[in-house]
Amino acid sequence: MSILSGKHILLGVTGSIACYKAADLASKLTQAGAMVDVILTAAAEQFITPLTFQSVTGRKAFTDADLWGGQAHVLHVGLGHQADLLVIAPCTANTLAKLAHGQADNLLAITALAAQCPLVLAPAMDAGMYDNPATQANVQNLQARGATFLGPAAGRMASGMQGLGRMLEPAELLGGIRQALGQAGPLKGRHLVITAGGSQEPIDPVRFISNRSSGKQGYALAQAALEAGARVTLFAHPTALVPPYGAAVHTVRTVQEMLDAVMEVLPDADGLIMAAALADFRVETVAEHKLKKQDGIPKIRLTTAPDVLATVAKARGSLPRLKLVVGFAAESRNLLENAKAKLASKKLDLIVANDISATDAGFAVDENRVTLLFADGHQENLPLMGKDEVAQAVLSHIQALLER
Ligand code: CTP
Repeated sequence: MSILSGKHILLGVTGSIACYKAADLASKLTQAGAMVDVILTAAAEQFITPLTFQSVTGRKAFTDADLWGGQAHVLHVGLGHQADLLVIAPCTANTLAKLAHGQADNLLAITALAAQCPLVLAPAMDAGMYDNPATQANVQNLQARGATFLGPAAGRMASGMQGLGRMLEPAELLGGIRQALGQAGPLKGRHLVITAGGSQEPIDPVRFISNRSSGKQGYALAQAALEAGARVTLFAHPTALVPPYGAAVHTVRTVQEMLDAVMEVLPDADGLIMAAALADFRVETVAEHKLKKQDGIPKIRLTTAPDVLATVAKARGSLPRLKLVVGFAAESRNLLENAKAKLASKKLDLIVANDISATDAGFAVDENRVTLLFADGHQENLPLMGKDEVAQAVLSHIQALLER
């Protein structure tokens, strides 16, 4: 179940060319299971019609005409009170000013005053307008009152100018909204370090040894942790996966880089989840220049790569904040036996074992079939499920283990 399932999202749309992206956002929110009520300002109606939003949300989209209809006296209160989150995307400088000063001269502004839910703002305006001291004062004012700002991003504006003021892309806004919905979740105040994907051990300047891990399970864990309110640091190999909004994402290639990165942040972490499929071996001597065919078949000698979890196990005594270490075991045979041995040898609190010989689950696909093995000896078999559902199941155990 997505964090958006069954949630009432009130989406305010104000007068910016980025309105066309708001239709995509409304569609994405609806597809994720949210009930999306849209309010357009008069200026937004110059760019896009209510029908566009009704068509993607399956619900009535409201305009200022509804402010003067028969239900007018209760409409804004009703919309404001039932919302789990009020998102204004795009949010113009004018609407920011209205919100900052409690002005209530259109349906969206009145509803924002009546709403009791958290407020998320995605500014969109031309270069210079966002930097203007008047706008900045409004931004600070709203931030001080608890509003969450998503963006704006820097880049090319519709006017052709460059600057800070572009609305974030709908996929990023969706991530920010998911995080905002989970910000008061059970892992609030916790910092989780999560690793994802495979490692890349260089042979020469152009070649490396890697594996089939896509990073999807680790990314799903990071998303689930953000939605439970955690602060997340994610280390992963270079990938085209969309970075989970709100996570500090760092690219690492070799196992040594992963070890250095993990050890640096660990003193400040409550938990470590090692979902990365890291190499056990690296090339002993990396060629300085590209290996050439005419030099014959190269003899590549391997040596052992550092074991991150084994190193963490040794250092745990000097890491008082670290309450929990979770490993993954990818096995093609003797799944439980091998996983149990790793649970013990790496001194883990939990190991997530998955059988990579299955064709419908595991590496590079969207589903996984895993068994959870705990340090106290109990075990739990999960059925074939989406990697996001596996992530939610693992995270709920992590939450319970952290509360021990
Ligand atoms: N791991 C690690 N450092 C490595 C290799 C693996 O920290 N160099 C971690 C993985 O992130 C995973 C766990 O150890 O959480 C188990 O990884 P796996 O590859 O299944 O096991 P290995 O310990 O590498 O043992 P083997 O390859 O013999 O199965």
